[in-house]
Amino acid sequence: MNEVQGKNQADSHIGGISATLLTSVLSMPLDLAVSALCDCAELEERVEQAPDWEARFLDQLKIALGRAFADREPAALREVHRALFSLYDLHVMDGTSPRTANQFNPTLTRVRSRIERAWIDSEVGRLDIETGASDSAAMVRSLKDLWARHPVAAHPLFDFLEKDASREQVIAFFKSDSALNIRFFDLLLFSMVGSREGVRKELAQNFWDESGRGEAARSHVSLFQHLLETVGVGRANDNHAGELGWQGLAGHNLFMLTCLNRRHYFKLLGIMAMTELLDPSQYEKLARGCRRVGLGNLNELDYYDEHVTIDVIHGEGWLANVIVPIVNETPSVGADILLGAALRLASCRDYYDALFEQLTA
Ligand SMILES: [Fe+2]
Ligand SMILES: [Fe+2]
Repeated sequence: MNEVQGKNQADSHIGGISATLLTSVLSMPLDLAVSALCDCAELEERVEQAPDWEARFLDQLKIALGRAFADREPAALREVHRALFSLYDLHVMDGTSPRTANQFNPTLTRVRSRIERAWIDSEVGRLDIETGASDSAAMVRSLKDLWARHPVAAHPLFDFLEKDASREQVIAFFKSDSALNIRFFDLLLFSMVGSREGVRKELAQNFWDESGRGEAARSHVSLFQHLLETVGVGRANDNHAGELGWQGLAGHNLFMLTCLNRRHYFKLLGIMAMTELLDPSQYEKLARGCRRVGLGNLNELDYYDEHVTIDVIHGEGWLANVIVPIVNETPSVGADILLGAALRLASCRDYYDALFEQLTA
């Protein structure tokens, strides 16, 4: 066999595999299809060899998006959010993963942006907010009002965890929260990328606290891992994201949506503001519940205790030193900050409702 024959044979071999893979994903649920595509080392070449395939795949995607966001089928919502989670993971995964080859794959990027568009349209349609804050002082008042008046600020899940939950139920809460808590380091970093110079001191202070103020064992991720180890929750590659329902995945995806898309940057600032405001009172109840079921003797509650105190400072600091200067500089981004805040509260509500129901079932 000469060199040319050998090459032709190799090409038709690749063509054969690509036809098999690309055909088979057309009949898979969206999350499995996206996962298989992410795993395909020569995805771009294979799609180029099958010119009609992408349009067919995008048609399938449209059907899945309709079931998820128009019909609100829970199974479809989970499929779509699992797919989106995998697509976002391409941008934060360890550099040794073979999937990194597809970080900027054009087909996967197109799939991602179609999911994002359908999802955001449907989320904004479910919200009822006024976006008319006129200046930075009004903006701060609006954000605080939005938070204080929202049902999620006094969600019964945390009263249950404080007063009635068993040790197993408390541990199930830790496990459910773990993917987002462990990813938070990166999320905070994304808020620093492309940030305005005047707000960097506050962002850096927040990040310094998150990373343990120079002590690796005191980083929030380490503190949380210590808690999981103490209560016997084993490590998982995906930090138990695979066990989440659509609500938990959507909460995670909302952060990633705004971290990875520059045009949603100001929504991210609103999301972060709500996160800092929500944590202290909820974690205070949770920490009391943890002690009630016998936890706390091995410093394993430091993660929550730390957030009870420090997020009060972070919450005020975020409003005064991030939101205020940015809105003073560019009043037009205020609407997006508020929208991000409202989206975060809505996604927390969906998640806490579902988790409460699941824990008490
Ligand atoms: Fe933290
Ligand atoms: Fe914080």
